[in-house]
Amino acid sequence: MDAAFTDADVLDDAKRAAAPATRANDAELKEVKKDVRAVNAGTTEPRAAARHSVGTLAAESHASDSHESVRPLAGQVWDAAAYARNGRFVAELAAPLLEWLAPQSGERVLDLGCGDGVLSEQIASAGCTVVGADASAELVAAACARGVDARLIDGQALHFANAFDAVFSNAALHWMRRDPDAVIAGVHRALKPGGRFVAEMGGAGNVAAIRAALYNALALRGVDAASVDPWYFPKADEYQARLEAAGFEVRRIESFARPTPLPGDVSGWLLTFAQSFLQSLPAAEREPLVLEVREALRPILGRRIVGAVWMADYVRLRFVAVRT
Ligand code: BEZ
Repeated sequence: MDAAFTDADVLDDAKRAAAPATRANDAELKEVKKDVRAVNAGTTEPRAAARHSVGTLAAESHASDSHESVRPLAGQVWDAAAYARNGRFVAELAAPLLEWLAPQSGERVLDLGCGDGVLSEQIASAGCTVVGADASAELVAAACARGVDARLIDGQALHFANAFDAVFSNAALHWMRRDPDAVIAGVHRALKPGGRFVAEMGGAGNVAAIRAALYNALALRGVDAASVDPWYFPKADEYQARLEAAGFEVRRIESFARPTPLPGDVSGWLLTFAQSFLQSLPAAEREPLVLEVREALRPILGRRIVGAVWMADYVRLRFVAVRT
């Protein structure tokens, strides 16, 4: 499978995927650069720490998370098993968002970016009819295997009209970087009048240390990480303005830090969620990059609480908006 993709393909695809993002994100890019500077200023010699890297990923605690299970194709490719290992916490931490949704029996709900369907299932268990939408064929297949009515759909090109009482989205909107306004317009169209859009995504400053470490490590290899960065983490006021411009009334919106314990060290997270960055390098250079980034982050993320649990520096943006 890998042999079908040359490094040139990978780089070309990454550039193509990243190019339209500038439309939405010039301002955000400035913020990212600020984050990188701030993290650098507060970091104890990440490059020196990187030299302490020992062993290989396969030999350490993430043996089961080695690249073998995450196919190194262009862009982000989801592997349902790796996602279950390294990303199960995403659904486990969604209880407050489900409370905000407050699903009622008989409602029709669209789960936008449904992933492997764990939350779609929970919403359905409240008596709702749930449609899952996701842009990953692998995750749609995993959701269907759970019995979810999941469909392969680009969230930036939703085709539903007046079809749902609620659109729910957890930890997915930040992947729809190319055209956030198209996402919001599609959600607005998909809702019945009075329907609600209840969502949580990464907010401004999300994974700032992880992002900065990736930017630094790639810069040392001559790669401009901004050109392959797949994430959109807006400030609350920016996203609220987009919602209102599309015809939503924002009932609640909050942005807050939520340090998030990882199931292992940060390498499993990087292999699962940071593929766009890794694929900007030739295959042989990716594992050294992951090890270097991990060691750069160890003093920042690896020592937040006693017991050596790695805490990712998540910032959440959570909101309820109603179609007027
Ligand atoms: C998040 O949920 O904030 C997130 C997950 C993976 C990559 C980036 C952000």
